[in-house]
Amino acid sequence: MDIMTRLLMCPPTNYSVTYDINPWMTRHVGTGTPDAARQWDRLVETLECAGDVRIEKMEPKPGVPDLVFTANAALISGKLAIMSSFRHPERRREQRTYRSFLAQYGFATSFLQQTFFEGAGDALFDRVRPLLYVGHGWRSERTAATQIAETLGVRTLSLLLVDERFYHLDTCLCPLASGHVLAFMDAFSPHAQTLLRRAIEPEYLIEVSATDALDFACNAVEIGDAIVLHSASPRLRDRLHAAGYRIFATDLSDFHKAGGSAKCLTLKLEDGPAESVAAA
Ligand code: ARG
Repeated sequence: MDIMTRLLMCPPTNYSVTYDINPWMTRHVGTGTPDAARQWDRLVETLECAGDVRIEKMEPKPGVPDLVFTANAALISGKLAIMSSFRHPERRREQRTYRSFLAQYGFATSFLQQTFFEGAGDALFDRVRPLLYVGHGWRSERTAATQIAETLGVRTLSLLLVDERFYHLDTCLCPLASGHVLAFMDAFSPHAQTLLRRAIEPEYLIEVSATDALDFACNAVEIGDAIVLHSASPRLRDRLHAAGYRIFATDLSDFHKAGGSAKCLTLKLEDGPAESVAAA
């Protein structure tokens, strides 16, 4: 039986690419994004179509164009929100807005000590294994994983990201409730690749091609047996169908100009280690 998925999203009223903090933004600084509003509305419709979803909308704010990427608000675990401490000053301005929304929504909020950490962009719970994948290298720092492990009492797998185009973990890894994990392996250091292969059985590790990865296929939202993403090759679709998923693709190209796609535009408001998700 499907349980309702609640997602935090922020309408792109003030979305634009006005600064440059990742390689996707470089080519688009100053570019208007006329289709962003339409693409975002379609994403909402697609999510609502795909399964039992409730979208909680945050009020857009001027001067913080990346506020649409709510995945970076915090890491949610039960009733706790471990808030992001952004690496770039441009995004630090978002912290207060995310925190007051989540606090009003009923979450206890906390921060990690003296470390950059970019929330659910860099920390992803495995849906079956009692494990939290934490990316570091471009945005979050390595010490974030240690602090989260202590705070939540979960086992963390600290993964070094080596390709700047995949600067957040959710651009190159996507753990699914079936136990399958989508991964673009070249985005990880050799050691991180070894850790992933040790943690995930080969038949459950779905290695995506560079083409799919650059289309943000790993940046997918899972809703019950549906996967919502920008696009997926026929080969990847076959793989996901075989794993029991229905695929919903919707154009998010205007958000790729800022380096984000479907998953970055959402934050799951029920999240946590695999055991507690199963028990809930
Ligand atoms: N422009 C944003 C940044 O560079 C995009 C964030 C994408 N979010 C994500 N969870 N990958 O920070």
